[in-house]
Amino acid sequence: MDVYVKIVETVAEKESVLSIRRDVFIRGLNIPKHIEIDENENNANYVLATVGETPVGTARWRKTDEGIKLERFAVLDGYRSMGVGRIMTEFIINQFSGNEHIYLNSQDTAIGFYEKLGFESVGPMFQEAGIQHQKMVYPKGE
Ligand SMILES: CC(C)(COP(=O)(O)OP(=O)(O)OC[C@H]1O[C@@H](n2cnc3c(N)ncnc32)[C@H](O)[C@@H]1OP(=O)(O)O)[C@@H](O)C(=O)NCCC(=O)NCCS
Repeated sequence: MDVYVKIVETVAEKESVLSIRRDVFIRGLNIPKHIEIDENENNANYVLATVGETPVGTARWRKTDEGIKLERFAVLDGYRSMGVGRIMTEFIINQFSGNEHIYLNSQDTAIGFYEKLGFESVGPMFQEAGIQHQKMVYPKGE
């Protein structure tokens, strides 16, 4: 399966991103829309993964006071465990030089996914949007 990842540039691509997030987070995980679509919507960079012409995955990153925060990883149900999430994560990490502080807050069920990609847990679990989360960081220089 050929997966293509690109940085979102057009309104149509952003629509595809929102459609995947509605499916995965709002319908799939029952996350309220006002939490899923947050105040950072317009100051983040988005990626879109496609298989052929079909949009199947998305994620975003944004600069924070702490570093580069990765968020909103979502792959459509029928396309999971095929490497789409890995390809998107590697694509985003490759945007940076290796010296940035790259981090994320993982839902408890996704910790194993980020561990496979090299992220390491830091600090205790915490609750966000009614879901247990774990802060994870990507080692510098890898
Ligand atoms: C988490 C998610 C983005 C992973 O995407 P994916 O395309 O299925 O992941 P990949 O196929 O690239 O997986 C890469 C590796 O991680 C493993 N993996 C995937 N999801 C995993 C999980 N939830 N727990 C543990 N390992 C996982 C895969 O088996 C694979 O391992 P391998 O390299 O040994 O074969 C996807 O399952 C998803 O959209 N989940 C619902 C939304 C969500 O939880 N988002 C994260 C919020 S923090």
